[in-house]
Amino acid sequence: MIKIAMFDTKPYDETSFEKIRPENVEITYYPVKLNKDSVALAAGKDAVCTFVNDTVDKYVIDKLCEFGVKLVALRCAGFDSVDVEACYNRIKVVRVPAYSPEAVAEHAMALIMTSVRRIHKAYNRTRDFNFSLNDLVGFNLHGKTVGVIGTGKIGKAFVNICNGFGMNVLAYDMYPANDLNAKYVEMDELLSKSDIISLHCPLTDENKHLINAETIEKMKKGVVIINTSRGGLINTKDLLDGLKSRKIGAACIDVYEEEGSLFFNDKSGHILDDDIMARLLSMPNVIVTSHQAFLTDEALGNIADTTINNINLFFEKNELPNEVCYRCENFSQCSATNSRKCKQ
Ligand code: NAI
Repeated sequence: MIKIAMFDTKPYDETSFEKIRPENVEITYYPVKLNKDSVALAAGKDAVCTFVNDTVDKYVIDKLCEFGVKLVALRCAGFDSVDVEACYNRIKVVRVPAYSPEAVAEHAMALIMTSVRRIHKAYNRTRDFNFSLNDLVGFNLHGKTVGVIGTGKIGKAFVNICNGFGMNVLAYDMYPANDLNAKYVEMDELLSKSDIISLHCPLTDENKHLINAETIEKMKKGVVIINTSRGGLINTKDLLDGLKSRKIGAACIDVYEEEGSLFFNDKSGHILDDDIMARLLSMPNVIVTSHQAFLTDEALGNIADTTINNINLFFEKNELPNEVCYRCENFSQCSATNSRKCKQ
């Protein structure tokens, strides 16, 4: 029997995993996040299964190794929550590299449409029998320029959607794709020419706070910023300043630097301690969704399938097709040998 401790679980996780769980796998579902306080729950397990806001730092990894846990199975794509250097040569890390790039790309476009056509305001108004159109003037996406930062799986799906809307697509990525209807430009050109900027790159040490006062200064007045990637890509204080000064026309964020203590939980009825989030939520041109971009039936099914497969392949056959490694053993086949990247 392979024993898994699954952390930060919600009812929908249990539903999707129990639907496909094989008999040789036993899963204990813990609603708490994995961190130094909860790591003891992993004692006696073979693997831990974690999500975006668990803390798999050196302390936690030392403890997991002490307990004999062999595998960290991320049930998400981003692996910035794991200290992969501390894992190296001690505990294996696997992830779900793609569960539905379209789910995230479609959510990014849903945020754009909601924001620029003021759907969020109209929805509330008509519920209150207010059928006025005042202040609901939007703008066409057709003919506008969208800047896409990161053209991997999700970025590509997003570019395809933007193509369908008749938008001009500018893109920035260190590894440009050759099958994309987009014009690759330098970052500064993307920043200065885009009406909408959408982030689709992972969070790394190098690109933390990629969107900051300096880069915001280079943007067009009235720019719409969309982040469905990772909160740490944006310096939220600088984003707030940009909104207050009217330089930024609107912001839609599905991820937030300090989301760990807020997102995925019902905080209604509580006083929000986070002043930056409270101020953002007070603005009519800010839309916040709480890390929801992935949340479709299709994506949840794919996450459960790939995670169970990752776990079974490792324990039954010692295979790691979706490994996240600190240094690839075979450098010639690694897509990014100089950074903390995985074998694709
Ligand atoms: P991917 O690995 O297929 O593509 C990422 C791309 O970003 C690569 O082409 C890479 O070269 C590029 N890149 C890396 N650093 C960059 C930088 N500084 N500037 C520009 N480009 C850069 O990853 P995928 O599947 O497209 O996912 C992207 C990110 O989306 C994930 O890392 C994760 O953080 C986020 N995500 C968010 C979800 C949500 O529910 N909100 C769900 C799934 C992923």
